[in-house]
Amino acid sequence: MNCVSHIHHGLWRRPDTQQLQYTSLDTWVELAKTLEKAKFDSLFLADVSGVYDTYNGGPETSIREAMQIPVNDPTLLIPAMAHATEHLGFAYTGSILAEHPFNFARRASTLDHLTNGRVAWNVVTSYLPSAAQNLGFHDLPRHDDRYERGDDYLEVLYKLWEGSWEQDAVVRDVERGIYADPNKVHRINHVGPYYQVPGPHLCEPSPQRTPLLFQAGSSDRGREFAARHAECVFILGGGRQEIIADIRTRAAKYGRRPEDIKFFLALSLVIGGTEAQAQAKAAELNETLSIEGGLAHMSGQLGADLGAVDPNRPIGDFDFNGILGFLKSFASRAPDKMTTFGDLARSQMSGHWIVGSAEQIADRLQHFAETGADGFNLVYATTPGTFVDFIDGVAPILKSRGLMQTEYQGGTLREKIFGHAHLAKNHPGAAYRIR
Ligand SMILES: Cc1cc2nc3c(=O)[nH]c(=O)nc-3n(C[C@H](O)[C@H](O)[C@H](O)COP(=O)(O)O)c2cc1C
Repeated sequence: MNCVSHIHHGLWRRPDTQQLQYTSLDTWVELAKTLEKAKFDSLFLADVSGVYDTYNGGPETSIREAMQIPVNDPTLLIPAMAHATEHLGFAYTGSILAEHPFNFARRASTLDHLTNGRVAWNVVTSYLPSAAQNLGFHDLPRHDDRYERGDDYLEVLYKLWEGSWEQDAVVRDVERGIYADPNKVHRINHVGPYYQVPGPHLCEPSPQRTPLLFQAGSSDRGREFAARHAECVFILGGGRQEIIADIRTRAAKYGRRPEDIKFFLALSLVIGGTEAQAQAKAAELNETLSIEGGLAHMSGQLGADLGAVDPNRPIGDFDFNGILGFLKSFASRAPDKMTTFGDLARSQMSGHWIVGSAEQIADRLQHFAETGADGFNLVYATTPGTFVDFIDGVAPILKSRGLMQTEYQGGTLREKIFGHAHLAKNHPGAAYRIR
């Protein structure tokens, strides 16, 4: 995320992380070069369009902790990183509430041109009420309504990216003075429940046309959205096999095959020379985590103020009648009733850490790969430290086992991952192509 503190709050204070240098282009360019040297597929940029202001009824904790604020625009980093690399992909997050699809389409096409087809878009629908209010909505639209809007948004985009300019519309005929053939550039005349867009698209076809599509919804409506649109889906650890099977089953409804969607597991790794060294490192990182930052983050995600809760009190002590229903369900999932809300905030940050020697981590990743994960999204604790530890320790083992690429394939990001430059013919977005 183009910010100081993304997930592991408090760690920005450590001397061995470059989070304070997030405004420097050098930091990002160096990171991109490091990842490309190790043959990562892509660098992923998260984003939000509002402040987390639920905790204690205001944004103060978030601001103090640099908890996803300040946060700069992720897309502006991409051309500089792309210029310094040749193959690395760039997946950026954009909310369908944040920008009108007509402008969004133009920015994505521009990025796809400038990166030579190396961009992916992580489609999100926003969960922060403050984001929705900033963007001209009275309040956050209801969960499922956001996905309905998303369907309309994507339809506008497919029409612009896939259907507006025919593949041979651009002739660049210097002698006849014809850049593009107006008969092959079409208005889209989209009239949907949320958007009306006549078009045409302002950009000529870019290498991928539609950027590679990522998504991360796991609710019922979110899975349906993924089954229809996503080419790559981010998942968290819990229940992953069920989610993967379910989304793949749903995809058939939209004419898609199970293998048309790949699943990427979000992972936080703490890697040491030995298991004991890794455990010591994890304990030290744990010490620097900020519980306040974690509570502010979790409050925003849950949409409820955990500031009203004593972080040191065991959750088993609570009379849940007086507390919102969500807290009850949240608490019921805690394994131990002596767990405190502070523990839960900590576990949001470090509970998913996989701690071990490089060999042990490689074994775990191999296990995940054998049980359904197509790839991983590494969440840093320190940057570039987490990535460097992975590159120096785990990547060589994975490469020796044939589980990680040692050379890049040519072509666009989609080609590298799926073997074809454009949306697959059976993807719903491809239906808008002019035949
Ligand atoms: C790995 C991962 C990364 C995510 N990144 C973002 C992000 O950058 N911005 C955002 O608003 N939501 C992000 N989300 C949240 C999802 O977009 C989505 O809101 C969430 O998974 C809940 O979806 P659901 O309501 O369909 O279950 C991310 C989720 C996951 C699992």
